[in-house]
Order: sequence, then C-alpha cells, then structure tokens
Amino acid sequence: MGPEIDELEEKLSNYIGVKHCISCSSGTDALLIPLVAMGIGPGDAVITTPFTYIATVEVIAILGATPIFCDIYDRTFNINPAGLEEAYNDALSKNLNPKVIIPVDLFGLPARYRLIEEFANEKNLLILEDAAQGFGGKIGDKLAGSFGDVAGTSFFPAKPLGCYGDGGAIFTNNDELAEKMKSIRVHGEGKDKYENDRIGINGRLDSIQAAVLIEKIEIFDDELKRREKIAKYYTQNIHKLFISPLIPNKYFSSWAQYSIIIPDIMDRKRLIDNLSREGIPSMVYYKIPVHLQKGYKKYGYSIGDFKITEDISNRILSLPMYPYLDQEDQNHIISALNSHS
Ligand SMILES: Cc1ncc(COP(=O)(O)O)c(C=O)c1O
Repeated sequence: MGPEIDELEEKLSNYIGVKHCISCSSGTDALLIPLVAMGIGPGDAVITTPFTYIATVEVIAILGATPIFCDIYDRTFNINPAGLEEAYNDALSKNLNPKVIIPVDLFGLPARYRLIEEFANEKNLLILEDAAQGFGGKIGDKLAGSFGDVAGTSFFPAKPLGCYGDGGAIFTNNDELAEKMKSIRVHGEGKDKYENDRIGINGRLDSIQAAVLIEKIEIFDDELKRREKIAKYYTQNIHKLFISPLIPNKYFSSWAQYSIIIPDIMDRKRLIDNLSREGIPSMVYYKIPVHLQKGYKKYGYSIGDFKITEDISNRILSLPMYPYLDQEDQNHIISALNSHS
C-alpha cells in the first residue's frame, strides 16, 4: 500500500470515469471483495454466464451463494439478457434469493448492459461487472469498468492492461460500498489495521505492480489501437468458413482475445495441431463450460442445459493476439488457417 497505490487508483478512476478505484491483488479478489461487501452468502443466488473463466463463478461458490446460469449469444459470446427472466425464476424455484447479476465482458467486449440494467432495475438486483478481460472496451463513450453498481478488472499479464504478476482493481460510484470494500481489502480494517470492523481478506495490490501499471497506462490507448488494427485485419482476411467475432454497432472491444468459430464438421484438434506444426499457438477458451465442470457438479446442471454455450465451447478457437503482432506473422497465421479450410 505504498504511494504508488494512491497514484494508480487516481489515474485509473480518471481513466474509467468513476468516483472510486480500489486496487487489489487479483481480478478474482476484484469480484470477491464486492460480493462480500454486498453481503452475499448462503441462500442467495447470483446470476451469471456459464461461458467464462472459472473465477467468475468460484467467488459466488466460495461465499456459499448459488450460481444460476443464463445462456449466451452465439456471436458475441456474452450473456443473453433474454434468458435472465428464466434464470431469475430458476433461482426462486430453488428457494433462493436472487441478489446480483455478474455479466462478463468476454474477450474484451462489454456485455449488453442496457438490457441487463433494465432487468436488474425491474427485479431490484445489483450488477457486478466482470471486466477482467474488458478493460479498454466500451459502449459509445462509456468504458468497461463503469457499468453496473460495481466492476472488477484484472491486471494479470495476459489481460489487455497487464502488470508483471497478479493484480486487479474495483470501480464504483457507490460511496458506501467503496468504504466497505476498502476495509475488506485489508482484513476488514477499521480506524487502523489492528481494529477490525468486519471479516475481510488480504487483498492488497503490491506497490511494485502499481508502479508497472502507472507506466503501462501511458501507452495503453496506443496498444488498444494496435489490437483493433490486428483484429480488423484478421476479420478481413480469414476465410469466411470461419466465423469472426461480431462487434455490435457502437461497441468497442479491447481484444483481450480474437476468437473464431470453426465449422461444425471441422476437427478442431487437427486444426490446432496443424497450426502448431506451423509454429502458431492457439487456445480454446473455454473447452468445458462452468456448468459442466466437475468441481461444480453440486449445482445439478448437465449436458444440454445451455445449448449455445456448449456448442460454442466445442467450436471456438482463439488466435494469437497482442499489440505487437507484426503483419508478417499475422499473414503467416492467416494463410495457415485458410489453407486448412
Ligand atoms: C472473466 C474473468 N474473470 C475473472 C478473472 C480473474 O482474474 P485473475 O486471474 O486476475 O484473478 C479472469 C482472469 O483470468 C477472467 O478472465
């Protein structure tokens, strides 16, 4: 909690355009701390997407609350608000109190907040934006990290704005939640660290990581432009047999990942092996949707429950994406992919 922490928090809250930024030790803690502050626990339901990194759901489970899933759109891979009513009723039928929705800005693209907010307002639910991959994305002029009641992001090195280890940040305009979250970050501290007003965690960000981020935020907008250019080039040149990611009108992705959907009949493993033989790494995010993960069996979901998520997880493939991918390498990737089609 050295002086770099205050400096970073001020820079980040200005960048995102929210009142409070609370840095913390990881993107996972940036979701856990808000849920603790909201008082989420046993008997509560939190609605989220099954097509996400496990951390989104783990924080719900670890607090003893129950994750309730809602399927995704097949072109943006984000939660489809049309399924929220069913998820809400599913929670009620399990005798749970639906309290929060966690939309995920998957691969850098913000979720469809206008419709999610409409539903949350109608049902009196809080929104916790999982912007772990979304930092730098926006809808119109509104940046990821500013949607919902609270947002959490990650600075893990693979993220659009990465530090040199683990790191994260929480954003909110809510003064009361901000005060609680600051306290929870440091063991529930009160007036000083040996007075503990509530149960908290060790969720501090290291000053050395803040120092890295203070420098990297200066070049971040330039890096976003580079990612955008690389994504456009992929979309223009990849064979149409592969479905490129859809970025809806007025939406901007931070391109944490560039993910294509391969045809039904194509053998993904063979494609990955062929790319690998050409020296091209690729990755499947996420091959097992959360509702089908072994560790999450107790929530009672099975194959067929979220058909779009399951279909996408069988056919998705993420290609190399980082701001300094040069055109020669990108041409090599595109021609290896297209020759497979
Ligand atoms: C969607 C999502 N949520 C949460 C996290 C957790 O972030 P971290 O790895 O910094 O704990 C990640 C990062 O991997 C993520 O991709």
